[in-house]
Amino acid sequence: MRKRAKKMLRSLSLKPSYLPFKSIFHTSSLRSVVLNTRAFSSAVSPPSKAIVYETHGQPDVVTKLVNIPGAELKENDVCVKMLAAPINPSDINRIQGVYPVRPEPPAIGGYEGVGEVYSVGSAVTSFSPGDWVIPSPPSSGMWQTYVVKDQNVWHKVNKGVPMEYAATITVNPLTALLLLEDCITLNSGDAIVQNGATSMVGQCVIQLAKSRGIHSINIIRDRPGVDEVKERLKHLGADEVFTENELEVKNVKSLLGGIPEPALGFNCVGGKSASLVLKILRQGGTMVTYGGMSKKPVTVSTSSFIFKELSLRGFWLQNWLNTDKTEEGRRMIDRLLGLVQDEKLKYKMELTPFNDFNTALDKALGKHGSQPKQVIKF
Ligand SMILES: NC(=O)c1ccc[n+]([C@@H]2O[C@H](COP(=O)([O-])OP(=O)(O)OC[C@H]3O[C@@H](n4cnc5c(N)ncnc54)[C@H](OP(=O)(O)O)[C@@H]3O)[C@@H](O)[C@H]2O)c1
Repeated sequence: MRKRAKKMLRSLSLKPSYLPFKSIFHTSSLRSVVLNTRAFSSAVSPPSKAIVYETHGQPDVVTKLVNIPGAELKENDVCVKMLAAPINPSDINRIQGVYPVRPEPPAIGGYEGVGEVYSVGSAVTSFSPGDWVIPSPPSSGMWQTYVVKDQNVWHKVNKGVPMEYAATITVNPLTALLLLEDCITLNSGDAIVQNGATSMVGQCVIQLAKSRGIHSINIIRDRPGVDEVKERLKHLGADEVFTENELEVKNVKSLLGGIPEPALGFNCVGGKSASLVLKILRQGGTMVTYGGMSKKPVTVSTSSFIFKELSLRGFWLQNWLNTDKTEEGRRMIDRLLGLVQDEKLKYKMELTPFNDFNTALDKALGKHGSQPKQVIKF
């Protein structure tokens, strides 16, 4: 029973001293395991409120708010009072059980965020109460008011940055930076093409490309308010913004004006939208797929493989971070936060109080049409 209890608590990213309320665990044996552990604890974190899912499924059905008693702080632990955390598409996929790397339920949602150090274990010297920290690389269980994790998980960030940016800087902006810097060598004057340009990754790609003198050709889906969206993306630095329907023409190159044909394309949608990226790429170009928002496959004509010599590849941030890139990733995050502070990087977000989590979740699930990135404020 002790083994089972520890396994369940670990899967929630909780220390073995946590006992989620009876909505999750009912057995008295589990409670006694926790109480025995607590009896020896010296420092305990405050009780936490968490968004928990007990099984995989539709996030609006399987998630619920759960109260969790305080956790014992081990000597290397840091207790963080969460300030803000986003709802990303991959968070949804983890809860649905379709993301390749995910905690086993019962689990707490959320994978990135920012918080303030509340207390530290006896051996922790590099963090002090009041510091702002983010999990870096991202780590599960961020949708809760207090998170206790080993000090190695946390990266201190500048408190001068708005908290919603610190909360969201890793998963999407870091991906945008790596797409531009890690795929092929791009020089000032070159061009890229991307779909899903309204996404947080897309908005960052536009600005980071612009800052290097790289032109961006952007594809958005046909949706209400297209003109306003185009205006907004152009204001960020987009050279061209087209809807999918506008690109359904024979001579797509004629739409590009003086922009050189791009050698690199980014696809986070799939289906018809991915085919449009391929259509715009130049001879020998490469399309990097990093998302699949339409849930439709990428299809490539035989002729474009043979005669246009296109290359296809994928990118997954988690894979990149797994290759011992923690320190490099942290340096890149600091660079991105510097750009935010200098007002050279911005993206649309909506802050929603933790108490209204369900409203934010519904918006993130697309129940109310296109919405800005939902960020929970604790
Ligand atoms: N591979 C990686 O390492 C990695 C890292 C980060 C993100 N990603 C992926 O990148 C993508 C964007 O993430 P994000 O957080 O930046 O997005 P986001 O800010 O949450 O925005 C969602 C984007 O998806 C579009 N969209 C939603 N439903 C769609 C549908 N059914 N068909 C076509 N487009 C749809 C939205 O378009 P509208 O504005 O028109 O609604 C918007 O552009 C996601 O697929 C995510 O999983 C991958």
